Amino acid sequence: MDKDLFKEDIAKLPFMDSNLDLEKRVEDLLGRLTLEEKFKICSGTRLFFTKRIKRLNLPKFKMTDGPHGVGALGTFFIKKTTYFPTAICRTATWNPELSEQFGVAIAQEVRDVGYHMLLAPGINIDRTPLNGRTFEYQTEDPHLNIKTAVPVVKGIQSQRIAACVKHYVCNNQELNRFKVSAEVSERALQEIYLPGFEAVVREADVWSIMACYNKVNGIFGCENKNILKERLMEEWGFRGFVVSDWLATRHILKTESCINAGMTLEMPYPIKYKVKRLREALIAGNFMEDSLDENVKRLLRVMFLTGLLDDESLIPPGSRNTPEHQIVARKISEEGIVLLKNKENLLPLDIEKIKKLAVLGPNADKKMAFGGGSSMIRTFYEITPFQGLKEKCSNKVEIIDLPSEADVAIVFAGLNHKKYGDREGKDKIKLELSPEQIELINKTAQENPKTIVFLINGSPIAMDGWIENVPAVVEAWYAGQEAGNAIADIIFGDINPSGKLPITFPKKLSDSPAHVSKRTYPGNEKVYYDEGIFVGYRHFDTKKIDPLFPFGHGLSYTTFSYENLKISKETVSGDEKFTVLVDITNSGDRAGAEVVQLYVQDVECSVERPLKELKGFKKIQLEAGEKQTVIFVLEKKDLSFFDEINNSWKAEGGIFKILVGSSSRDIRVQTEIEYLV
Ligand code: BGC
Repeated sequence: MDKDLFKEDIAKLPFMDSNLDLEKRVEDLLGRLTLEEKFKICSGTRLFFTKRIKRLNLPKFKMTDGPHGVGALGTFFIKKTTYFPTAICRTATWNPELSEQFGVAIAQEVRDVGYHMLLAPGINIDRTPLNGRTFEYQTEDPHLNIKTAVPVVKGIQSQRIAACVKHYVCNNQELNRFKVSAEVSERALQEIYLPGFEAVVREADVWSIMACYNKVNGIFGCENKNILKERLMEEWGFRGFVVSDWLATRHILKTESCINAGMTLEMPYPIKYKVKRLREALIAGNFMEDSLDENVKRLLRVMFLTGLLDDESLIPPGSRNTPEHQIVARKISEEGIVLLKNKENLLPLDIEKIKKLAVLGPNADKKMAFGGGSSMIRTFYEITPFQGLKEKCSNKVEIIDLPSEADVAIVFAGLNHKKYGDREGKDKIKLELSPEQIELINKTAQENPKTIVFLINGSPIAMDGWIENVPAVVEAWYAGQEAGNAIADIIFGDINPSGKLPITFPKKLSDSPAHVSKRTYPGNEKVYYDEGIFVGYRHFDTKKIDPLFPFGHGLSYTTFSYENLKISKETVSGDEKFTVLVDITNSGDRAGAEVVQLYVQDVECSVERPLKELKGFKKIQLEAGEKQTVIFVLEKKDLSFFDEINNSWKAEGGIFKILVGSSSRDIRVQTEIEYLV
């Protein structure tokens, strides 16, 4: 064992050699750690750090939240950072490239504040529209979840910053999150809840995964050997480390169950991984030192991957709130805002024709960055809708607050990150807006029939009792520090909206699959996922319930026509791929972007399957009159379901419909293919 080493001696040790093979560095460093040091490194200190190992000059590994900006508890006293649009808004862009750019930009900010790992993205599936953290998550659909999460992780890690994908798994509600057991079928795990996590491991080589607070089928996430060791590590080949959610180990009984499950790091401080407990459990033979070594190795590996021990010159530099980062934030808001309703094309407004614009509502001038729980950030600036409009309208349109005297009125309604809003630690208690907001909208609409409602919120809202009274509604989410500019550009048509809903908006809560009974939400000790795979639109479609706005919905100021759907083969078998082509034309009179969505329907199957499932999408930008052929490549896995009898994925022989359209409920063209077994 190396004793009393001088800094100069340490610098010459093999693990310090950045040219040495990664695994050799890991082995070398592991071999030099004492048992006590291994114990020590497996739990945190000061909320967001690992402990230093002074003897080997091993610095703290630093972690920071969160999903739409660097900040939160560990750093907000110190540094300001960019407030990017929240994850649900980013997903609503249906533009994976923007997710990658976001990943790169946010990682540069992590580096700039001197940290090594970002506690993001959060990719839990939106099971209930009441979940307080819906704004931090991406979608209700596993395919869209994968296509949005993988580029974020790749973007982050391209900067040698670790992504920590959370909260693994089935942390789908805030209420009762510390103890509830998600009782979920294997099929629902395989088809709905696990695919995003599996993809970030297999496709993006994610360096860290955060284990959830809740239990999964009776066992807490941090000690769930099946979920961690067997699936994540052995099956998917995860080479990074598992960190507990903060204090998630509190209710776990045994230290060794976490070690044996493969949880490396306990945060924010030792509870189960107190040195004394670890020593006793090891002496009692409750875990083997090899298992501890394996866990420690995973953390060391990520330390090397992030350049913790490398010379600064070898590491991608950091930066914060650069013009590039601001552009990424703005692009995401421009592309993520969703035009829900636009009767008689009230929007966009013509800035040359409008004289007076009434701007009202509690969210017109409200800043949103600094709220919501662990995802809160301290931003350099945040342009509110009111500020964005003021800037855009200056010297052109007068902004007033009397709807009756205005050409058009805009009400900025929605939620915030406070009580009963979108926030960590609590779920919403209802889907509707507050009675005061409903009254304001209706009163405004009475005074001015040209009333537009902009919703600023991060989760579905029921609109009964007011939507029929207003000609236009826009879902603007919490769209980051540039939200106000993007909103003003959309209002006056400088930007043509192209966002699509990544989540179904139900008419009422009881239509939603998780809200059938108290057993399915909120549960008590257990919450039963009785709906199985019928989450989101899978439920609404199959049960023939009309949503308020369907998954994938979003209007544009132009129109798109779909024609010439072609398929490369009439039959396929085995692992053969096949190609689907469709011509999309911008049939309106201005440029715009369309998200072309491809769904698959298994016409006849031995088990119940959803009416349709998203298996592909492409976002294309078209000038007025322009046409483009969109190509999708599909294969057996896109036709398959998880067969619980044989415990494997299966495509049954027969006809599959290929449905292509502008939303899950606006299928424009379709064809068929036969799968031969
Ligand atoms: C949240 C995590 C967060 C962690 C650290 C927990 O309460 O669930 O998402 O990363 O705190 O702030």
